[in-house]
Amino acid sequence: MGVFEEIDAKLSALEEAAKREWSEAPAAERENVRLRYLGRKGSLNAILRGLKDLQPEDRRTVGERANQIKDTLTALFGDSEPVGDTQLSPGYDYTLPGRPRPRGKRHILTQTMDEVMDIFYGMGFEIADGPEIETEYYNFSALNFPPDHPARDMQDTFFLNDEYLMRTHTSPVQVRVFERQRPPVRILAPGRSYRHEAINARSYCVFHQVEGFFVDVDVSFGDLKGILLAFAMEYFGSDAKLRFRPSFFPFTEPSTEVDVVCLLCGGKGCPICKHEGWLEILGAGMIDPAVFAAVDYDPKVFSGYAFGMGMERIAMLKHGIDDIRLFYENDLRFLRQF
Ligand code: PHE
Repeated sequence: MGVFEEIDAKLSALEEAAKREWSEAPAAERENVRLRYLGRKGSLNAILRGLKDLQPEDRRTVGERANQIKDTLTALFGDSEPVGDTQLSPGYDYTLPGRPRPRGKRHILTQTMDEVMDIFYGMGFEIADGPEIETEYYNFSALNFPPDHPARDMQDTFFLNDEYLMRTHTSPVQVRVFERQRPPVRILAPGRSYRHEAINARSYCVFHQVEGFFVDVDVSFGDLKGILLAFAMEYFGSDAKLRFRPSFFPFTEPSTEVDVVCLLCGGKGCPICKHEGWLEILGAGMIDPAVFAAVDYDPKVFSGYAFGMGMERIAMLKHGIDDIRLFYENDLRFLRQF
């Protein structure tokens, strides 16, 4: 028997032995069978290594035969490859609906601020902001608060040290804008404000305000009333009514506090408006000449109005929310309603 016949016989024996062992081996043993025959150091490769001793044409014939056996065995062994992660188990129900993915949404306060900004943006206001940590100067002195004004008291203000405090309102943004811009200025400045107050259903230590102001030649109180009414009708609905009450702020003269007719009772009186029929939503007025003096605007040439509106307040009114603390508790059952 020549080398060729010898190898050919070996191959046939190998194929038969491999098939038999495979069919007899328990599942746990099969990987070993596979390695023994097809592995890098397996018997098939050992035979193939002997090919180099053959005549070129014999080598081709034997080579083809060896590859055939390799394919046959690979297909056979492959049949019971362990089931991988990517394979679907037979019991899989393809008609099941997908798992729902939770979707986030914007906080009701963010939605409210965006809506308010949109309305004023449509009326020609530009957006500005200022720092929440303010100096005593911008928060009080430049706004004409006398040195002994009660609002400066530790009772109302979070002081950080002698110079810095958490701003108690967004009005300091007025001064910051006036310092770097000459009239006409028409600005909306939304942001957080902080007050050292007892926390209850109507007040919280942090809240959101939107400051609006317009300075130009010949700006009048009538312009202020007009813009606020236009806003209220847009935000609350076309039957919104406003009431202007005389008030006092060191940085406006004259000053006013503005109420909107209670949406829940239409002004008749109910628990939400404490049977008043009206709810306060903002403070406003004509900018005091003392503020202009601090930023070098000539009060004989320019006049302007300013207003500061509480975001929580208007959101509570519009959506019938009866406790300001709900905005800050991050209870999803509350937040998901908006
Ligand atoms: N800053 C005032 C407050 O927080 C509101 C206000 C703003 C009043 C602008 C007049 C003008 O109460």
